[in-house]
Amino acid sequence: MSYPYQIRTFEDYQKAYQKSVENPEEFWAEIAAHFTWHKKWDRVLEWDFKGPGAPIVKWFINGKLNITENCLDRHLPFRGQQPAIIWEPNDPEEHYRVLTYQQLYDKVCQFAQVLKNNGVKKGDRVCIYMGMIPELPIAMLACARIGAIHSVVFGGFSAQSIADRINDAQCSVVITCDGAFRGNKDVPLKSIVDDALVQCPTVKRVIVYTRTRTPVSMIKGRDVWWEDELKIVETQGNPKCPAEVMDAEDPLYILYTSGSTGKPKGVLHTTAGYMIYTNYTFVNVFNYQPGEIYFCTADIGWVTGHSYILYGPLSAGATTLMFEGIPTWPDAGRFWDIVGKHRVNILYTAPTAIRSLMAHGLDFVKNKKLDTLRVLGSVGEPINEEAWQWFYEHIGKKRCPIVDTWWQTETGGIMISPIATVTPMRPSYATLPLPGVQPAVMDEKGQEIPTTEATGNLCIKFPWPGMFRTTWGDHERCRKTYFDPYPGYYFTGDGCIREKDGYYRITGRVDDVLNVSGHRIGTAEIENAINMHSDVVESAVVGFPHPIKGQGIYAFVICTHLDDPELTRKDILETVSRVIGPIAKPDKIQFVKNLPKTRSGKIMRRILRKIAEGEMENFGDTTSLLDPSVVEEIKQGRLAMS
Ligand code: WTA
Repeated sequence: MSYPYQIRTFEDYQKAYQKSVENPEEFWAEIAAHFTWHKKWDRVLEWDFKGPGAPIVKWFINGKLNITENCLDRHLPFRGQQPAIIWEPNDPEEHYRVLTYQQLYDKVCQFAQVLKNNGVKKGDRVCIYMGMIPELPIAMLACARIGAIHSVVFGGFSAQSIADRINDAQCSVVITCDGAFRGNKDVPLKSIVDDALVQCPTVKRVIVYTRTRTPVSMIKGRDVWWEDELKIVETQGNPKCPAEVMDAEDPLYILYTSGSTGKPKGVLHTTAGYMIYTNYTFVNVFNYQPGEIYFCTADIGWVTGHSYILYGPLSAGATTLMFEGIPTWPDAGRFWDIVGKHRVNILYTAPTAIRSLMAHGLDFVKNKKLDTLRVLGSVGEPINEEAWQWFYEHIGKKRCPIVDTWWQTETGGIMISPIATVTPMRPSYATLPLPGVQPAVMDEKGQEIPTTEATGNLCIKFPWPGMFRTTWGDHERCRKTYFDPYPGYYFTGDGCIREKDGYYRITGRVDDVLNVSGHRIGTAEIENAINMHSDVVESAVVGFPHPIKGQGIYAFVICTHLDDPELTRKDILETVSRVIGPIAKPDKIQFVKNLPKTRSGKIMRRILRKIAEGEMENFGDTTSLLDPSVVEEIKQGRLAMS
């Protein structure tokens, strides 16, 4: 497979960009023509970011297709024997697995039949809570094969979070494993699912894959083993499960993500636009060449895994490597061992991983076979210059371009990024918008800044095929969150600087969303979890700069009584783990008597952020504070902690 739409020179990029702005419909239609359709679209685009039903976004209207035919079937004649997925297990001593396109296709069809046998139909929601094993993408693709909507929940979330997500989407089936290996830990996934399901009346069936052989409870009539179900399909003669013909705008998946208020929202992606956008951005940003080994270190539980371990690479017929474990086990050289062992050409990872490996020192990089690497990528948070230089020098040996890719769960795919081998790099800059992406920088008054040089909030003013269509079950909330702040624009929640030459530097979230080790978490969510502890009266959570995690979580907490602060602190951490998951545990908890509030009762987070950072002055205008002595007290408490 060659990619006729692959950009090879900066001039190509400029031409493609210009065309995508001047004639977006023609631009995307030409790319869409390279995919497998049951029926071509009637019109390319219909959209409205502003009117009463906004947002309305439809791409490739009335087009019919199935994404798995594009990810699997169409590759079989030419690359059936080529590896589709290389799986590297947690334990380097265990043998790795390779699934060719033919094998992956067979397994997806088989498991799609399992889903059918268990009553799953087009449009049903299926929750997937698994570790990073090949059965996870098999389960996702099997859903897509029969038109069921998958909702993958990251393995670091608690039973309560799973239950919230299952209930919000009304899932009828859950797919899980007995457990998952992560470093020297064994996470009891099925047991966590069991705790969740106490609260989930819609779930009729749980399919359990055996990975760790941890003892699990199996409830008659509800729980079945993956392996037993496959045997049933074999006795049915392994029918070739035909792909359900889907509309271009039929939902493909829901993925929950945090915002500044309330519970996580179910971001909804649909079929054709998402497929074309992830494919286009994968092929271009990484300059993927047929036959290359591509390794994205993300977890499939996050959007990066959905778009750039699974759908982007497979739709492009690439070889995608997935890794079950963690970067620091058995030691901090694991990523580099994997690169050497599987002769990886393209490596896509996160700044937090780079910083953590940097901190372990260069001994773990020495003598590793990194010569096959050609392109490096970064995602999830701004990459600081030090991490960028380390990655460039010690991993890429100054030969490999680094693509600093800015995007979000909502955008479905990469939006602002260098194109490898094409765009001149600049450390800590995501550089230029990809073709099809029309950014706008907004000033304080809510107006778009007309000059190229600009600092403000980042919006996008024209639809792109990969964008989300709504938040599941609550279109109103989608409009309020993303389209009301700047009428006519999609608001990203990020701040940015645009330089004279049009290069973008993303400066981070301007709302109450934290980015902790590349995981997106809302401060309100964490506060709600802390407040569930019986001794807690009120709390306020802010982020603070953290050398490895990017941002750490700092909680100011008021308690009714505090007999043993250390014990209460541990209780609170345990509560947060229960309610959200271990990823949301505060790094620091400071007990306070009062929170700094305005006369109207609003917490002045700005002041708390400064104090959390250890900055004890320059609080700005504090005249609206109800009681200025509160600040003094919190400052003293902070000083006593450090
Ligand atoms: C941040 C992850 C700077 C940003 C794909 C965004 C980045 C949020 C970058 C989305 C980058 C992601 N430079 N910031 N290259 N990539 N971000 O939804 O704040 O988990 O809004 O999607 O991560 O996080 P999400």
